[in-house]
Amino acid sequence: MALKITVIGTGYLGATHAAAMAELGFEVLGLDVVPEKIEMLQRGEVPMYEPGLEELLRKHVAGIEGSSGRLRFTMDFAEVAAFGDVHFVCVNTPQKHGEYACDMSYVDSAFAQLAPHLTRPALVVGKSTVPVGSADRLARELAAAAPVGADAELAWNPEFLREGLAVQDTLHPDRIVVGVRSTHAEKLLREVYAGPVGEGSPFVVTDFPTAELVKTSANSFLATKISFINAMAEVCEAAGGDVVKLAEALGYDDRIGKKFLRAGIGFGGGCLPKDIRAFMARAGELGADQALTFLREIDSINMRRRGQMVEMAREALGGGSFLGKRVAVLGATFKPDSDDVRDSPALNVAGQIHLQGGQVTVYDPKGMANARRLFPTLGYAETAVEAVRGADVVLHLTEWREFRELDPEALGEVASNRLILDGRNALDPGVWRAASWTYRAMGRPSA
Ligand code: UGA
Repeated sequence: MALKITVIGTGYLGATHAAAMAELGFEVLGLDVVPEKIEMLQRGEVPMYEPGLEELLRKHVAGIEGSSGRLRFTMDFAEVAAFGDVHFVCVNTPQKHGEYACDMSYVDSAFAQLAPHLTRPALVVGKSTVPVGSADRLARELAAAAPVGADAELAWNPEFLREGLAVQDTLHPDRIVVGVRSTHAEKLLREVYAGPVGEGSPFVVTDFPTAELVKTSANSFLATKISFINAMAEVCEAAGGDVVKLAEALGYDDRIGKKFLRAGIGFGGGCLPKDIRAFMARAGELGADQALTFLREIDSINMRRRGQMVEMAREALGGGSFLGKRVAVLGATFKPDSDDVRDSPALNVAGQIHLQGGQVTVYDPKGMANARRLFPTLGYAETAVEAVRGADVVLHLTEWREFRELDPEALGEVASNRLILDGRNALDPGVWRAASWTYRAMGRPSA
């Protein structure tokens, strides 16, 4: 009989995973502790903007006309335990308040609520990003708290999906990593992932600590790559070089590769920043802190770019104070194709300028509601043109396609000054300069 799957936690990761499992043909029951989220999902609505996810949900959520009916939602752990053969834990692990370490309270609570209901053999699969060593502890706690004892087994299966590409990354992962302690667990996970493995996704079987480490080290590597090119941008700024050309030339070396070499205001979001910090904190606990001190520098380089963007804006406006200056900010989300503003470099820059007296007006294609909630005192406009109207300077801080397609001539008519600073090195300088704009970008010569 086909495996029945549950997904605990229906954020970016869980909602996408649940829909993808239904797409792969499984009966799926999703659980969340937030009633509003469950109500939305039951109507086939996604609580965040993620391209393609709503369509995939509506294709499978029971009760929606024409759906496969394979996907249902609940808030009841007993129902989840009774239903599932494999339980995926997908709750988030934010940064602890006032500390670098990872907050495990949602993971711990999910396990604590599920375990007492496990009266038949089950595989619990952790997907959340956790400090190395967590799986070992959770496996012990699970077996101790579950009525079936050791027949409640744990596996660790980190997730590598990117926001904005979550559906594609989940259905066609570039690798599947499983930390297991038995051939039984491996067999079940091979069954779950038979579809993508059949299409060629590599299936890497390993132990718990390695599986946990793959995730944190992958994100650390990506953060390092971004901060590397941003460090080169700093050097280019000092030496008069062009970091975009530099990155292009470096990228042709296929040992280096061109991806994640886009210099600008750096990385943000709910993953990279907190993951490198939690990794440093965990290495410290393990007595291996020296191994990761370089990540402190990666973090500093990254945060410095936000300040540098503010200084570039100040300088472009004549070098004095921002008081009375009108600043248009294009982009609020931490990256395009997402409505996520968590630790967004764009909003950070907008906020800094606002706090220094600038009159900031922000526009973002999808992130307006979340941005307003986080920074209610910033100004907001309904369109890019409205944000730019009367602006002394325009800052391009999140590289949405919509901004690349703006007409510099039309924008020039409403701006009070044809001055644009590209914090993402994503606009075509030639096009803007041809329309008489002064175009400046991070790590690039002025003209
Ligand atoms: C990241 C990882 O890429 C995923 O593999 C991982 O699964 C996920 O975290 C997670 O841990 O859940 P995500 O946070 O969606 O995914 O965002 P990325 O696409 O990695 O971008 C992160 C930040 O780096 C963004 O702010 C982006 O603008 C910035 N970035 C990216 C650059 O500044 N330069 C680049 O060249 C690339």
